[in-house]
Amino acid sequence: MTRVITYGTFDLFHEGHYRILERAKQLGDYLIVGVTTEGYDQTRGKLNVIDSLMTRIENVKKTGFADDVIIEESPGQKFRDIKKYQIDIFTVGSDWIGQFDYLKDYCEVVYLDRTKNISSTMLRTQNKQIQRMGIIGTGRIAERFIPEAKLVSGINTQGVYNPHTESAVKFAEKWGIDFYKDIEDFYEAVDAVYIATPHETHYEYIKSALEHGKHVLCEKPMVLQKAQAEELFPYAKERNLILFEGIKTAYCPGFTQLLGIACSGMIGNVRNVEACFTKLESPESRELTDLKYGGSFTELGSYCMLPIIKIFGEEYTQVRFDAINGDNGLDLFTKVSFKYPNGIATATCGLGVKSEGRLLISGTKGYIIAEAPWWKTTYFEVHHENPSDIEKYSDRFLGDGLRYEISDFLSMINGSSKSEFKLTRSESVAFADVMERFLRENR
Ligand code: CTP
Repeated sequence: MTRVITYGTFDLFHEGHYRILERAKQLGDYLIVGVTTEGYDQTRGKLNVIDSLMTRIENVKKTGFADDVIIEESPGQKFRDIKKYQIDIFTVGSDWIGQFDYLKDYCEVVYLDRTKNISSTMLRTQNKQIQRMGIIGTGRIAERFIPEAKLVSGINTQGVYNPHTESAVKFAEKWGIDFYKDIEDFYEAVDAVYIATPHETHYEYIKSALEHGKHVLCEKPMVLQKAQAEELFPYAKERNLILFEGIKTAYCPGFTQLLGIACSGMIGNVRNVEACFTKLESPESRELTDLKYGGSFTELGSYCMLPIIKIFGEEYTQVRFDAINGDNGLDLFTKVSFKYPNGIATATCGLGVKSEGRLLISGTKGYIIAEAPWWKTTYFEVHHENPSDIEKYSDRFLGDGLRYEISDFLSMINGSSKSEFKLTRSESVAFADVMERFLRENR
């Protein structure tokens, strides 16, 4: 009996998929089809897959060509599957020519002609209107947005607005996008906006963008007052618009995995979370000279509060702020302590004091540790009482990681996302509340 194997995502099942399965089956007597998991697709940079794994498996089964369907969840699995299932022939479409030649030592490798003029990518973009994205702000973060957005299909960065015309013109020239002098013209030309301006201007920009019927992806901290967040989310919802806080860590695959493990019982009940992020900034930087809204907590606090609020929730019983302020009154180093009925947590941030940036989650049966830069989670360990009992986890974090949040933002606009759980509206409200309390106490 000749055993054949092939793999794919099989999103929005189309003729090309049908034809490759048909021909794969003809190569032998028994066909195994590997269907990729959402997590694996994300780590290999394939974002925006629309159909769920179950739907994709069902569609493969419906063809009647597959004798067995397996799931593909990690790199290197193909080699193991070939051994495990005693495969004689490995086959994929000609778009992969040469890429699987390394398997020739173990079985025959056949590249079948790809069906012309059809692909899942094409269907994904055809089905949906391309979202024209506009950027407000021209700082460092805005610079990172453009190359990352290019990797997400279905989005096009149209133009930029900044009341400081000179920097907007420079930015637009550098990135080959349009520049708008008048914000009304800017809104006219886009479907969604990315707000990357100084923190204190977010609220007004979000409001005006929503008023103009635009979806909003706003950099963290989205707003600095609880009431503002409580006002803006329902305002967006009433208008069928998406308002989305961009804390990139929340959307990063490794961090989602880490949270899953923390909440799975593997380390027992979580009792303590310590999250630390420090980044030394020059005393002349905006972060250390904006006397009202600068400082370490407004800059980095969102990252450190994220694992705490995700794990313990929004109902802390006590929050306390300890900060070391510089001569101008801005916090150079801040420790925020939370008390919960069954746990405690600290969020530590620094722009003028360096510390070991790490995330430590302690439970009744063990702990999870992720070293800096844990906010771009690629690696973490789970430890238990026995010091040699360590489980190691790694995941990929591609580029600057903004692609993950942009992709989730787009999926929410298109109505195909189930990702609100990664950062809920009420969690964003809770972050704004802590920011507000901090600023009231510290300034
Ligand atoms: N395939 C094919 N002809 C097409 C599209 C895909 O023969 N027109 C083959 C691929 O070569 C692969 C299998 O179908 O062997 C599964 O491909 P998949 O990546 O799921 O489909 P694509 O349409 O290529 O998806 P995407 O656009 O997301 O890359």
